[in-house]
Amino acid sequence: MMYSRIIGTGSYLPEKILTNHDLERMVDTSDEWIRSRTGITQRHIAAKGQVASDLALNASLMAMDAANVAAKDIDLIIVATTTPDMVFPSTACILQDKLGIEDCPAFDVQAVCSGFVYALATADMFIRAGQCRNALVVGSEIYSNIVDWNDRSTCVLFGDGAGAVVLTGGDQPGILSNHLHASGRYSKVLSVPGNICGGGLQGNPYIRMDGNAVFKFAVKVLEEVVHEAVAANNLKISDIDWLIPHQANIRIIRSTAKKLGIPMEKVVATVHEHGNTSAASIPLALDVAVRDGRIHSDQYVLLEGVGGGFTWGAVLLRW
Ligand code: ACO
Repeated sequence: MMYSRIIGTGSYLPEKILTNHDLERMVDTSDEWIRSRTGITQRHIAAKGQVASDLALNASLMAMDAANVAAKDIDLIIVATTTPDMVFPSTACILQDKLGIEDCPAFDVQAVCSGFVYALATADMFIRAGQCRNALVVGSEIYSNIVDWNDRSTCVLFGDGAGAVVLTGGDQPGILSNHLHASGRYSKVLSVPGNICGGGLQGNPYIRMDGNAVFKFAVKVLEEVVHEAVAANNLKISDIDWLIPHQANIRIIRSTAKKLGIPMEKVVATVHEHGNTSAASIPLALDVAVRDGRIHSDQYVLLEGVGGGFTWGAVLLRW
C-alpha cells in the first residue's frame, strides 16, 4: 500500500516583533489582559510589501532543504492561506514560479485556521492515489492585513508567519488517517465579510468574531475529532506522543487537552511567541518541535485545528 510521510519541515517568521507592550500604546489593552486571556506575549508582523508567497518561499526552501528534495522533484504544491497575495492567480502558483518549478499542479486551499490540516489531507490523498510523489504543503498568512488595528478584541490575537512540509510517497506510514469537517451554518460567527466588487471594496474588510462562541465550539469539536482519529486507528488517547493543535489561544489548547486527558507536557504550544497565525500555526509549531528534537521517529503525532467556516479536522501520523 502507498502511504505518504513528512520528510522535511520548515518555517518562517517575519523579523518585526509586536509585543503586548507595543499594543498597549495602540489600543486600550494591557499585557496582563492579553496574557491571561490568550497566553500570547508577542507576534511577528510582515514588513510592508511582504506577501504570503514571500513567507511561504522561505518556509518551503527550509523544508525542501531538510527533506533533501530539489525543486525539480516537487510535483504538487498546495498552499493553505486566507490572506493570498492577490485574488488570482493562487499563492501556490506564485510560489511555484518563485521556486523555479514548472508544470506541476499548484493550488490554494481556503479553510482558514484548519487550512493546513485540509491541505495536508489533500496532498496525502494525491500521493496515495498515485497522482504525485513529492508534495510541498504550506500554510502562509499575513493576518496583519485583515486585522482592524483599532479593535482591541481582535487585534491582540493574530500574527504573521509560514510553515511548510515536504510529503513523499512510500511503503511506510506516515500519515495514518485524515478527518475533515465543516459546518457552514456558523459562517457569521467568525468572518471577514468584505469582498472586491465592481472595482471597489464592498463590506467590512476586517475580522469579525464572536470570541465566546468560537471558544466553546472549538473546544467541543477538537475533543470530538481527536477521539475520532484515535478510534479510527484502534489507538488510545494515551498512545499519542505529541498533540500539535492550531495555536489560537492557550486556554482553548489547555481546555482541549484537559478534556482529552492529555498532559500539557505532550502538547506543543507556540502561541506565546507566534500569536494566532491561522493556517500557518500548525506547521510552524511542528517545525519548532521537530527542530528542537521533541518529535522523532516512531512517535504518534496528532495535528488538529478549527477555524472559520466553521471548519475543523485532524491528521494522525506515525513519525
Ligand atoms: N484588552 C482589554 N480588554 C479587552 C480586550 C483587550 N484586548 N478585548 C476585549 N476586552 C474586554 C471586553 O470589551 C470586555 O469588556 P466588558 O466586560 O467591559 O464588556 C471584557 O474584556 C471581556 O470580554 P470577553 O470577550 O468576555 O473576554 P473573554 O474572556 O471571553 O476573552 C477572547 C476574549 C480572548 C477573544 C476569548 O473569547 C477567546 O479566546 N475566544 C476564542 C477566539 C479565538 O481564539 N479566535 C481566534 C480565531 S478562531 C481560531 O483560530 C479558532
